[in-house]
Amino acid sequence: MKRKLLGALLSTAMVASLTVGCGGGNDTTPADTPADTEAPADAETPADNEADDASAPAAAGGGKIGISMPTQSLERWNRDGAYLDEQFKAAGFETVLTYSDNDSGKQVNDIQNMLADGVNLLVVAAIDGEALNTAMNEAAEANVPVISYDRLILNDAVSYYVSFDNYTVGKLQGEFIVDTLDLANAGDTVYNMEITAGDPADNNAGYFYQGAMDALQPYLDAGTLNVVSGQTDFDSVATAQWNTDTALERAQNVLSSYYADGTQLDVWLCSNDSTALGVAQAVTSDYAGSNSVLITGQDGDEANLKNIVDGVQTMTVYKNVSNESVVTLALAKAILAGDTIDDSLVPSFGIECAFDTESYETSEGNKCPSFLLVPNVITKDNLQDLVDTGLYTMGDDGYLSAAN
Ligand code: GAL
Repeated sequence: MKRKLLGALLSTAMVASLTVGCGGGNDTTPADTPADTEAPADAETPADNEADDASAPAAAGGGKIGISMPTQSLERWNRDGAYLDEQFKAAGFETVLTYSDNDSGKQVNDIQNMLADGVNLLVVAAIDGEALNTAMNEAAEANVPVISYDRLILNDAVSYYVSFDNYTVGKLQGEFIVDTLDLANAGDTVYNMEITAGDPADNNAGYFYQGAMDALQPYLDAGTLNVVSGQTDFDSVATAQWNTDTALERAQNVLSSYYADGTQLDVWLCSNDSTALGVAQAVTSDYAGSNSVLITGQDGDEANLKNIVDGVQTMTVYKNVSNESVVTLALAKAILAGDTIDDSLVPSFGIECAFDTESYETSEGNKCPSFLLVPNVITKDNLQDLVDTGLYTMGDDGYLSAAN
């Protein structure tokens, strides 16, 4: 099991005494400001830019930002990459944006290239939270601050973490099941459930799973919920790389092994939309029953929003990743300006967000100061809330499209 909750199974083989990082006694300022770091001749340092253009945002300053995203094969990272790139550019930064095809070796290479290119700060959504040590150590040596974006990198070179409250994402999924089935008043009724979780290499996956299971456990203990396959522990239900086809295949196996005899399936807890897509496909094509199955998700991917309209998926936990990049940009500016970073920064985001210094660790005992945004439940009944963000449009057919 590679799932890492606070205090659990944390790797101790971490680099020691880095000047920038969650492990550096919660240092909030890089030892060298970007102006001190080696920059290529053609790159303006923040200090240069302030002198050149007094009207520029105080901390923007034309630095270069490396944005390393995991893959283009999952919808949300395309949106994250685009928002980050646009917003940093609009604030006067140069950017280098890469996608690493879910290949950790490639992500290490991509980050190394960014460092060689003289980036002043890195924003990294890790493919595998434990596989970036080489690149992270080089970032620390070069005094380049690292914002761990959405997924925590388990290395003390990380300066700060920007994400959503990942445990709450899972809790919302679990509570949705409890409320929708009114499990508290179920009496002798037994609901049959299956579970699909995320990628064990992704530090978030354990939080999603645990948040949901904590909400559901009393009903599993009471027998109100019954996992017919018996597959409940994280390792049995995990999905490598959050892959839709992998989730589809396992769901087909579970359906043919445990439900082909007419056993009713009521709920399938899925940690996110890419896995929910595979599960929904299996339920549509391979489930013998005629009842509608409650399927959860996370992200608000277009295909899943369509499934919600069609009644094939029941809910998704929506995370506004445009807001996640707004927070990341504001934090990056503050880091590069050498500002004090604590909860006093939050009001400037204009976005609901908690400054949390307790929940996440980059290595045992080394807390990582984190800015955690708030996720929301989306169902068929409040799709308009997504349109109201300005990030989606609704077609005449009632389906939503991301309005990039
Ligand atoms: C997680 C992320 C989720 C989901 C998943 C698969 O780390 O927090 O929003 O997208 O990866 O990409």
